[in-house]
Amino acid sequence: MLNVEQLKKNCIYRADCIEVLRVLPERSVDLIIADPPYYRIKGDFDFVFQTVSEYLAWCTEWVRECYRILKPTGAFYCWGSSQMIDKLSVEVLDKFDWIKRNLIVWNYRTGRPAKAAYRNETEFLWFYSNPLHEINIDAIRVPYDEGGEKDKRKNPKGKSCGNVWECSRIMPNYRESTGHPTQKPEKLAERMILASSKAGDLIVIPFAGSGSEIVPCAKHDRYFIAAETNETYVKHIILPRLKKERISFTQHDCRKQQYSISRPFGRRSEVTDHEAVQSP
Ligand SMILES: C[S@@+](CC[C@H](N)C(=O)[O-])C[C@H]1O[C@@H](n2cnc3c(N)ncnc32)[C@H](O)[C@@H]1O
Repeated sequence: MLNVEQLKKNCIYRADCIEVLRVLPERSVDLIIADPPYYRIKGDFDFVFQTVSEYLAWCTEWVRECYRILKPTGAFYCWGSSQMIDKLSVEVLDKFDWIKRNLIVWNYRTGRPAKAAYRNETEFLWFYSNPLHEINIDAIRVPYDEGGEKDKRKNPKGKSCGNVWECSRIMPNYRESTGHPTQKPEKLAERMILASSKAGDLIVIPFAGSGSEIVPCAKHDRYFIAAETNETYVKHIILPRLKKERISFTQHDCRKQQYSISRPFGRRSEVTDHEAVQSP
């Protein structure tokens, strides 16, 4: 079992996120980006749940901890699929006393054709926050569409970001691809981080996967605490990915199940690895 003394910033824990979240103090975290298993869609981790009610009960458990640790200025983002995102909101997220800000649509524009339904080309992201949260609109402006160039009201830095985010999925032949079955583009996490945190803030990543949220934390000088149950993902995907991104690290003997970046920020950082793991 983890305890608060063991918990360090810039650390990836090979552990159940609930164990990690429980150790964090109340109102101590600026931003949480959660990309949980979606419920019986893709990846072994999706099929550990037998029923929807079991899945939602589990979500309630880890979301309760997220709610507890979020600062009054904090923000919470949570991914989901079209099958479950409505239930997740009504039966889990809305039960807590925070503000429902947006349902963000990730439009990746591709997808398999289906006979009985329209092609699915979207995934969904709930954005909730505590009352004092404000997003940094200027940090995430997007280009205006063509036309209207003479319109003096236009902001020279670009249009404010809407709730439909266009970005292609990570295909196996992309440089960014890691082989993780549900890897999200780093750009999406980067947008949340730039909008909803500032340098030096603490970001919690309950489901680290391939590290798509960790990499932009490091690049943009945010602290993070991440959890991932699958040791193979940590050893063979996240750590090599940090290395590829030149987020440097060294190894230390350390307590079981902790991999930590112990210097404050990304590119000049140090990962504390532990016993079973070889340096990538
Ligand atoms: C949807 S994926 C996250 C993908 C990540 N956003 C990325 O782009 O790489 C969910 C991850 O959560 C991990 N996981 C499942 N249950 C977990 C738990 N209870 N605690 C921590 N990690 C868990 C899975 O092994 C999987 O890698």
